[in-house]
Amino acid sequence: MDFLWIAGGRKLSGNVRISGSKNASLPLLGATLLAKNRVQLTNLPNVVDIVTFLSLLSRLGAETTMQNGEAFVETLGVRETKAVYDIVRKMRASILVLGPLLARFGHCEVSLPGGCAIGARPVDLHLRAFEKMGAEIRIQSGYINAKAPKGLKGAVIDFDKITVTGTENVVMAAALAKGTTTIQNAACEPEVVQLCEVLHNCGVGICGIGTNELTIEGSGGELLNLAPISVISDRIEAGTYLCAGAITNSDITLSHVCVKHLYTILDLLRTIGFGIETGDDFVRILPCNKIASFELHTAEYPGFPTDLQAQFMALATQAEGETLIEERLFENRFMHAVELQRMGAKIELEGNKARIFGRQTLFGADVMATDLRASSALVLAALIAEGESRIHRIYHLDRGYERIEEKLSALGAMVKRSKE
Ligand code: EPZ
Repeated sequence: MDFLWIAGGRKLSGNVRISGSKNASLPLLGATLLAKNRVQLTNLPNVVDIVTFLSLLSRLGAETTMQNGEAFVETLGVRETKAVYDIVRKMRASILVLGPLLARFGHCEVSLPGGCAIGARPVDLHLRAFEKMGAEIRIQSGYINAKAPKGLKGAVIDFDKITVTGTENVVMAAALAKGTTTIQNAACEPEVVQLCEVLHNCGVGICGIGTNELTIEGSGGELLNLAPISVISDRIEAGTYLCAGAITNSDITLSHVCVKHLYTILDLLRTIGFGIETGDDFVRILPCNKIASFELHTAEYPGFPTDLQAQFMALATQAEGETLIEERLFENRFMHAVELQRMGAKIELEGNKARIFGRQTLFGADVMATDLRASSALVLAALIAEGESRIHRIYHLDRGYERIEEKLSALGAMVKRSKE
């Protein structure tokens, strides 16, 4: 197993290129199951979750290749419709094959994802939506067994909660269903928008893209012809590097970003004192004299993303006063707080709220990553800690951050990957 060694205290400078979005790539790879052509995807991040999803598609019978961020996926030969436990347990986003497989083949089995480090994360909303579209769903021996022998039919789906992968799953299924599907309380994250745009570009009638109500005209089972796809930039990776600039109080520039996806994050950084310059596809963060404390509540897009909550908690340890963070999406997403405390952070937790006391000197330590974003918060803390840190279990980081040690080293950080 690898760990990251980081010597804290270095200022950063220079440019970092932001990779393609992991969470946009995953549903787009799922959507290749709806296509009759060989689909080209570019700007895919070279991270473990993408490799895992490609191997899931191969296990189903797809032909896949990936090199330098470019993949070709041909799913016409897919005959297998079972997504096995071995892969789903590695990556919950495997649930994204459920909608496409069910819509295309009229049946499939997908291992039921269990809880994970950030919460119970049920998929009941996905399943209820498919039942409304005419599927019979049974849970058997840990698998979701879904059948729609006469095909899926359009329906009105009103999600009780906004769900990102739930919306994506239903959009993909609705694209091949018979008739019209309306999704109320749909997610409108940029990753959902890109999926809708890709389907719309190949002739699927979709109204309401980017809003909380989507209407999708299904093709009645006819497979689609997907044009080449260039994956959008990763707004969470961008937010993480902005936090790296902020916590080290450095002047760095992020290139290949989609600035409009970062408005909420840039607003917060400006409010707490940082200079921000933006261009067509870059963001520069400039140092500030004092970091003001802040209050943040995670929310669905365009609110503050839960996937950046941990990183901003690390930043809050350097603010002037007390910061309040409320995690509204996942019930157990404060595991990083305990590890940050081990580095000297003063954080009080109460339910889904955290109070972070600023102006804390952090000290290097051995810390353990518990999930992807928690891991990146520990990396940020280590960048300013006095002394050396070792961040263990970085396989979590490798799931979603491309070459993080190379990117940080190029910015001037002292970071090395080593074997345990
Ligand atoms: C997506 O997860 C992302 N994953 C997550 O990113 C992200 O944290 C999350 O959306 C929220 O933005 C991918 O896109 C692959 P949800 P998802 O369904 O779709 C509840 C990362 O670090 N819910 O929008 O699984 C759920 O428990 C990851 O990159 C139900 O109750 O999240 C949560 O409280 C982690 N029943 C809320 O809804 C359901 O059937 C939102 O979850 C589905 C969800």
